[in-house]
Amino acid sequence: MKFCYCYFIFIVIILIKFTNGNSTTAKHVITDYMMMRLDNFNPQDNRMWKMRFMYNSFYYQPGGPIIILVQSRRAISAHWLQSSRVTEIAKELNGTMYFFENRYFGESKPTTDLAIENLKFLSTSQTLADLARFVAAVKSKVAGHLGIIVIGGSYGGIIATWFRQKYPHLVDGVWSSCAPVLMKLNFYKYRETVSEVVKKLGGVDCSSKLKTIFVNLPNAITKDLVKVKRLFGLCDSVDLSNQLNLYKFYDWVTDIFSGMVQSRRLSISPTCKVLANSTDDLIFLSTLFNQTYRGKKQDIPYPCMYCGYTKNIDYLKSTSYQTNNRRQNFYQNCAEIGLFHTTDSENQIFGTLLPVEYYLQMCKNIFGVFNNETLQHYIDHTNTVYGGFNLGATNVFSTQGELDPWRPLGLQSNANENSPVVVVKGMSHCEDLHQIYSWDPIPVKTVKSKALELIKKWLLEVKVTANSNKKKL
Ligand SMILES: *[C@@H]1O[C@H](CO)[C@@H](O)[C@H](O)[C@H]1NC(C)=O
Ligand SMILES: *[C@@H]1O[C@H](CO)[C@@H](O)[C@H](O)[C@H]1NC(C)=O
Ligand SMILES: *[C@@H]1O[C@H](CO)[C@@H](O)[C@H](O)[C@H]1NC(C)=O
Ligand SMILES: *[C@@H]1O[C@H](CO)[C@@H](O)[C@H](O)[C@H]1NC(C)=O
Ligand SMILES: *[C@@H]1O[C@H](CO)[C@@H](O)[C@H](O)[C@H]1NC(C)=O
Repeated sequence: MKFCYCYFIFIVIILIKFTNGNSTTAKHVITDYMMMRLDNFNPQDNRMWKMRFMYNSFYYQPGGPIIILVQSRRAISAHWLQSSRVTEIAKELNGTMYFFENRYFGESKPTTDLAIENLKFLSTSQTLADLARFVAAVKSKVAGHLGIIVIGGSYGGIIATWFRQKYPHLVDGVWSSCAPVLMKLNFYKYRETVSEVVKKLGGVDCSSKLKTIFVNLPNAITKDLVKVKRLFGLCDSVDLSNQLNLYKFYDWVTDIFSGMVQSRRLSISPTCKVLANSTDDLIFLSTLFNQTYRGKKQDIPYPCMYCGYTKNIDYLKSTSYQTNNRRQNFYQNCAEIGLFHTTDSENQIFGTLLPVEYYLQMCKNIFGVFNNETLQHYIDHTNTVYGGFNLGATNVFSTQGELDPWRPLGLQSNANENSPVVVVKGMSHCEDLHQIYSWDPIPVKTVKSKALELIKKWLLEVKVTANSNKKKL
């Protein structure tokens, strides 16, 4: 039995690397651990835990920078320190690289399990305080470094941006890619952007045909439940006449397109060509569904897909750590940052079956203690504390993909004269953090170079300041 793994929040993309041959060996990359405080803000709580990190000092020469990459809400992995834009920058500047794993994700487990009372130590403020301790420790360990640069994408980009905002003395410059820095409960603009991109890359006909399909889908499902179950290979126990199960199923089907826009953008146009020829909406959708969620397994007699609401809730209620990090991700969305991809807008093609109430209901069913007013309070608080679009911090380079559904919550124009923002034409989620490819579109190539130039500039400032301080002494 397989569960619905929706591409829900900060998606996988940052981790899916274009595989370039077989560089999976952890060459030059060392995994290590650092003891952290469970509660950075309570001197009466002495509990500690082991945070995982990685580093690669292969290119390091004294006089080079320390470059710290912040992972999004999942496990760190060696390849980002072996072949990525970060690696290229480190090589160019004689830098050493560190990879920071956020508390509660991957192998960085502050508590024995994810029971609700243990999740209270999961918050951006605790994570930023961990990062501060980490940076201080790395600084004292790396002899002769020039300065500290922090880089992150998606959620990692949020943390990187806010780190410069809250701990400016610990970092000389930040490159933040595809980071939604304004928190919002009802993030309906996500699906609006997905819809715009489908229209832009797949054409108006495709977009209007899809809109019709999604608007009619609930009726089509009710009319022939048996056919739908057979075509999508759903488990018998999934009762689609139950509204919540229907929502869940919808969540899954519509996310095929979110995933395409975020990471498999090149498949939009071919998919639209198939749709143009198709005469049966359900066959079209279920074929796409099989390709997306079953992959190569579709030919193997595969156990049915469980796409029901309650089972999914039960799964997320389980308090043990899972490699997919889903419970802790969802907790943070329900407790601190919102960002639900609702269909509460007329300017999108996915019908109306995923209102904000659906997501709030999930929060309530999974975590019990959840309350929508408290969440709104925390979202407002998060925006007040970090500034949202009012970024005061200097030396933050923010890059956004024009086609990235997260873009509406990222900075759109220069935050101040020392914190430039570039919206990269033709780019989706975090693509600029990958190594330079021969097939990079020109705007992507340009922004990859610009990041290096800015980092050089910041490091030069560090050098100049250090020299003038020396003269004063
Ligand atoms: C990587 O792939 C190449 C060619 O496919 C092969 O010759 C080489 O042995 C592989 N290296 C490793 C470490 O697997
Ligand atoms: C990197 O180190 C090498 C060898 O020490 C040196 O020649 C080069 O100028 C350094 N590059 C930078 C950007 O500092
Ligand atoms: C999708 O996969 C299921 C399970 O293997 C299969 O029963 C169904 O026919 C497939 N749908 C299509 C349109 O091929
Ligand atoms: C669409 O149908 C035409 C005519 O049957 C066929 O030639 C073409 O290959 C089809 N295109 C796709 C993408 O299936
Ligand atoms: C949030 O809770 C309040 C009070 O219980 C309720 O009036 C409101 O409709 C809820 N909002 C949503 C979006 O569910």
